[in-house]
Amino acid sequence: MNTPAHRRATAAGLVALGLVACSFRNVQKEPAGPGFGEIMASIGARHAKLWFAGQAGNWPLTAYEIDELREGLEDVGKYHPTHKTVPGSVPRLTADMMDGPLDAIELAVKAGDKDAFVQRYDALTASCNACHEASKFGFLRVVRPSTNPFTNQDFRAAR
Ligand code: HEC
Repeated sequence: MNTPAHRRATAAGLVALGLVACSFRNVQKEPAGPGFGEIMASIGARHAKLWFAGQAGNWPLTAYEIDELREGLEDVGKYHPTHKTVPGSVPRLTADMMDGPLDAIELAVKAGDKDAFVQRYDALTASCNACHEASKFGFLRVVRPSTNPFTNQDFRAAR
């Protein structure tokens, strides 16, 4: 049987099947936006840049990197309100662990106090690692960077 009516019915059936398949795919899709690990990789870069900016006494650059860290940590919670191994709410845990250390290092930057900066940088790093521990990613250990991999950026303060 291959009448025009039959062909129309077949075409309509195929369209309907296509729609069902599309909506099924949408349901299966991951949430839009960058992955948790992707955002963390850029947070890792900002964490390193913050160190070299502080070593150079480039306070405007340190302030900028602190803002970028805050934004990155906000994005993690925005795109991933929960995560398979993070206990509870990602935005809440992030705020609990990071707001204090970020505020503290910001004060050292505002005061232009290099010794306080170093001490608070280590405290900030310890908080990053505490969240990795709490999230069953304790094997991800962030440390003070030793050599600057960002050779395409001048970290010196403007004279
Ligand atoms: C909410 C808890 C939490 C906080 C706070 C946190 N992390 Fe993470 N981090 C994670 C989790 C979970 C992963 C693994 C994500 C994944 O891949 O699924 C991760 C992954 C990473 C990675 C690995 C990325 C890669 O591609 O290798 C780095 C680097 C990293 N974090 C740096 C940091 C730094 C630096 C800080 C502090 C400024 C920080 N993290 C704060 C939970 C956290």
